[in-house]
Amino acid sequence: MSKKRVLVTGGAGYIGSHTTVELINAGYEVIVVDNFSNSDASSLEGVKKITGVAPTFVEVDCCDKEAMRRVFEDNSFDAVIHFAAYKAVGESVAQPAKYYRNNLLSFINVVELMKEYHCKNIVFSSSATVYGDAEELPVTERTPRKPATSPYGNTKQMSEDMLRDIVTVDDELRGIALRYFNPIGAHPSALIGELPRGVPNNLVPYITQTAAGIRECLSIFGDDYPTPDGSCLRDYIDIVDLARAHVVAINRMVEGRCEERYEIFNVGTGTPVSVFELVKGFEKANNLKLNYKVAARRPGDVTAVWADTTRANEVLGWRAERKLEDTLRAAWQWECYVRNREK
Ligand code: UFG
Repeated sequence: MSKKRVLVTGGAGYIGSHTTVELINAGYEVIVVDNFSNSDASSLEGVKKITGVAPTFVEVDCCDKEAMRRVFEDNSFDAVIHFAAYKAVGESVAQPAKYYRNNLLSFINVVELMKEYHCKNIVFSSSATVYGDAEELPVTERTPRKPATSPYGNTKQMSEDMLRDIVTVDDELRGIALRYFNPIGAHPSALIGELPRGVPNNLVPYITQTAAGIRECLSIFGDDYPTPDGSCLRDYIDIVDLARAHVVAINRMVEGRCEERYEIFNVGTGTPVSVFELVKGFEKANNLKLNYKVAARRPGDVTAVWADTTRANEVLGWRAERKLEDTLRAAWQWECYVRNREK
């Protein structure tokens, strides 16, 4: 039997490259499109080293509909995973039009081309950001979304809504939105991982760069939150576990097991972890000391958010498996690998 084929947009990126590995390992044929706006070809080389398979790659911007049409013309797909998007919250506040144009246009192009070429299944890369400062914790998929506090968050909400509306009137199409909590870590091989450009915004890349001596000192943004140790609580999900959730979602779609045309799943661990706990965990896992200080709260941060993962556990049959300690070790090994590569 021929392999099922999956188009992965943004497949050279952090989540995209790890998902490509897991899809290949699960027996899928993967076609990656990426414009390298926040990634480079080294991740695809890493995918090849890990799996022994070089995914077909087309350098294309999803906003370029004619170029994307050629991709659909040349290939048939059983499913699409749409990762390609800008993701820096602060930048989206400063340059909203750039975010709306890129994230919404690429999404619309992909779903329109899927319709034109009779591709039936799409997994959309959503975010826990849609819950905002949630009224109930942990958040379930039924917890009301809050108005977005950034254009980035708004593009996730708007894309979710577009997907719901489009599949509702289309007998052929099925959509799954995966709401990621905080993806961290790297592949255990240390051959792929997160490659933030410039000063990292997110906690774990900032930690690993501080440990590597690239940043002088980690600032812990606030120790006066109403939480047990005063720092914010998040749900840190290992990148390989997160990648596996996509494979399970794709299996469900291509095997025709979706119960609704549009389904939503939280993808997290279900366990809240504070910033202090994460820092201490990193130090312990890697047997090193991190230079850190407490700083002012970061505007826009919510006190706490973590997932109720019952639906993903029961309906998808997926759960997070990797231990936080192993995840933090992988994050550090990846940082060391990148530093050696750059020497
Ligand atoms: N933090 C620090 N110091 C840092 C960086 C982060 O203390 O240098 C803290 C933050 O204050 C927060 C926690 O670490 O409490 C996690 O921060 P991240 O920036 O890593 O992650 P966020 O929870 O802010 O971001 C997540 C997703 C984004 C999404 C955002 C919106 O990673 O994609 O939620 O809510 F947009």
